[in-house]
Amino acid sequence: MEKTNTPLTTRRNFIDYFLGTSLGATLVATFYPIFKFLVPPQIAESTESSVVAAKVSELKPNSGKIFKFGSKPGIIVKTPTGEIRAFSATCTHLDCTVQYQEGTQQIWCACHNGRYDMAGKNVAGPPPRPLEQFTVNVRGDEIIVSKG
Ligand code: FES
Repeated sequence: MEKTNTPLTTRRNFIDYFLGTSLGATLVATFYPIFKFLVPPQIAESTESSVVAAKVSELKPNSGKIFKFGSKPGIIVKTPTGEIRAFSATCTHLDCTVQYQEGTQQIWCACHNGRYDMAGKNVAGPPPRPLEQFTVNVRGDEIIVSKG
């Protein structure tokens, strides 16, 4: 017996097709933004090897300043005796940005109370390694920070 396409089966096929594709579209519309949120965009590592991080005249003794080294943060610290040091400002524990605390004269990470001394050495809390230290050169009023 030959099967014929009646209007009923045609309508059912259309509804099946419509519901199937709208379900697929709904799933894509729901999960695609979640997927894009969870997968961070690729940010190229900076090729800069040195930056002008601050002016000498803007840093008072016993203070710190965050600067950008490419796409990553760095921190300049001027010790109470006036020595200038620079480090990566990315905590070695879970990558939070550190800051300088004048009261304790330490570099502090607010995320889990990690602490580094003025040489960038991890002295308290969970950070497993010292901060990466940068080379500092002063040219006129400019503080130039270099990697390596
Ligand atoms: S991220 Fe800095 S102490 Fe945890």
